[in-house]
Amino acid sequence: MSPAEIESNASLLIIAGSETTATFLSGITYNLLRTPAVLKKLTELVRTTFAVESDITVLKVQQLDYFTACIEEGLRTYPPVPIGLQRVTTAEGNTICNKYVPPNTKVSVPQWASYSSPANFLDPDRFVPERWMKNPPAKYANDNRAVLQPFSVGPRNCIGRGLAYAEMRLILARVLHNFDFELQEDSRNWLSEQKSYGLWEKTPLHVKIIPRKL
Ligand code: HEM
Repeated sequence: MSPAEIESNASLLIIAGSETTATFLSGITYNLLRTPAVLKKLTELVRTTFAVESDITVLKVQQLDYFTACIEEGLRTYPPVPIGLQRVTTAEGNTICNKYVPPNTKVSVPQWASYSSPANFLDPDRFVPERWMKNPPAKYANDNRAVLQPFSVGPRNCIGRGLAYAEMRLILARVLHNFDFELQEDSRNWLSEQKSYGLWEKTPLHVKIIPRKL
């Protein structure tokens, strides 16, 4: 790319391509530390599946259903894009959710509100990866799973979705393989202290990182 092309693409690569995935990884780190039983199960899965770090590949991590369930629950509990992204109705207007919406009206579905609503998910504030398994526990079977669309939908949805999943899987698996974690006291309320004006305005997440004892 020419310097001019790099310059005009830089904000896209930083905001769309890096901030989002990094945000997800911060959020899932926090939620795993707040849910020790899940952290233990996921860490054991990674360490028993991969004897050494170099065994970890995107394709192999992709085959671990519980790992994928944790990623989906991470996207639900802390969607990197928490707001609703706007679309505009056509010149004739559109019928959306059985209601007529007039022409040229901006519409959107707010992600954070939809994912944390008890109308869509049982125990919305709990981190429950099992709700994303093929056979979820009966009490979570009626969750409205189709509502989770963290990469948006339609022809202008996230073009980097595949790359994002690859990065999330690889980085999380390698980090869990190598380290143990402790959430520091001053970060206990990390999520509830945050505001969003588009993306999340993250405060520092203080975590003690300890090399795994072999
Ligand atoms: C967890 C990570 C990510 C999330 C949650 C995410 C989410 C989104 C969302 C919600 C949109 C807006 C789509 C819409 O308006 O309907 C979007 C657009 C976009 N994303 Fe991502 N994204 C992620 C990672 C990435 C990565 C890694 C890249 C590239 C390296 C990327 C590149 C883009 C681009 C270029 C667009 C604009 C697409 C267009 O307007 O046609 N994203 N993303």
